[in-house]
Parts: sequence; C-alpha cells; structure tokens
Amino acid sequence: MNVHWNEHQEPLGTALTLIHTRQSTTSRFLGEPGPDRAQVETILDAAGAAPDHRRLTPWRLVIVPSEKRHLLAEAFADALSERDPEATEAQRKEASEKAYRGPLLVAAIARLDPALGSVPAQERLLSAGCALQNMLLTAHAMGFGAGLLTGKSIYSKRLRQFFQLDDTEQLLCFMALGAVLRAKPVTSRPSMNDYTTTL
Ligand SMILES: Cc1cc2nc3c(=O)[nH]c(=O)nc-3n(C[C@H](O)[C@H](O)[C@H](O)COP(=O)(O)O)c2cc1C
Repeated sequence: MNVHWNEHQEPLGTALTLIHTRQSTTSRFLGEPGPDRAQVETILDAAGAAPDHRRLTPWRLVIVPSEKRHLLAEAFADALSERDPEATEAQRKEASEKAYRGPLLVAAIARLDPALGSVPAQERLLSAGCALQNMLLTAHAMGFGAGLLTGKSIYSKRLRQFFQLDDTEQLLCFMALGAVLRAKPVTSRPSMNDYTTTL
C-alpha cells in the first residue's frame, strides 16, 4: 500500500490520537465480537509494514484458531508441569486458561537463524516489536482491544514443540485481540523529558 500522507496535516493528528489513546486490554476482558476475516487480514498485514533491516522478515505469526485452543491449553498445562513437576491439577487448569483468551489469539515468533542474513538478533527483535505495535495500533483504530501475553511457558520445550519451532526460533509472546468488555482506567504515560536527554 503506497500512502503519501506527508502533504496533509490531518493524518498526523489521527496517528497521534491513535498512539496516545491506545491502551492494552487485560486479555480476560476481551470478548466477542472479534475481528472478521477481512479485519484479521488488515491487522496481520500491518505487521508486514514494520521496519525490517535487509527484509529478512525475522519473525512469524501463528494464529491459534478456536478449534485448536484446547490443544494449546494442554500445552500450557504441560509447560507448567515441565518446570514444576509437583504442579497440581488445579494449577495446571489455571495455566491452561490463557489459551482461551481473546477471539483472536496470535503467537509471535522471532526468527534468529544466522543463515537468514547477517542481521543481529537485537535488530530482529526490534523489528518484531515494531510489527506487534503496528498490529496493536491497527486493532485500536478498528475499535478492538488487544494485549500481549508472555509467561515462563514461552521458554518451555512443550510450547516449542507445539509451535514447531526450530532451534533458531524463539516464542516471543501472544497477542490476544477482541472487543473490549472492560476497559482499564486511563493511565498516565511518561513524557519525553522522562526518557530523553541531549548529548
Ligand atoms: C512483550 C510483552 C509481554 C507482556 N506480557 C504480559 C503478560 O503475560 N501478562 C500481563 O498481564 N501483561 C503483560 N504485558 C503487559 C501488557 O501487555 C501491557 O503492555 C501493560 O499492561 C501496559 O499496558 P499499556 O499497553 O496500556 O501501557 C506484556 C507486555 C509486553 C511488552
């Protein structure tokens, strides 16, 4: 998509409004209706517009459709048992609940294979972060809520197997997305003086 917005002031206002009004939604408070097929495509396409040194696409996304959520739930429970063999059935059940968050659930995976190109891991991870932010902002512009989810399970062998990661890939996080059932109170943000100095 070729968009030349610089001639207009209006898009700047729109962009800033989107950036500054976006807030994560706690994934428990995401529900139906989720994005339809065309909206999902628009959100996922936004990821591809992220800065990407040497165009390696150093990350990939995996949608976990509703009919496969129970398999991810088992994987989350097993990931808990992997790091805590004493985990109880109740704890396993609690761990598995994350799999049902959001009408749309997408796993983000970093591709860190040196054979892909000579771009350091740090740059690839930054590209993945930019891709995720593009998705968050697009979802927000459509009126959806979204949040990122991690946890110790993303480092587990069980989840690595579940997502068929090769040795050079790393599960980064999940993005849950859907209608906002309960919004968070507006939080204050740091401003430029909090994180910027001049040399
Ligand atoms: C990579 C990443 C992973 C996160 N994982 C979790 C998580 O597992 N659980 C959680 O409650 N918040 C998690 N968060 C925090 C929320 O997604 C969100 O960023 C935070 O609540 C701040 O909300 P805001 O986006 O409205 O500022 C994560 C944030 C990032 C950047």
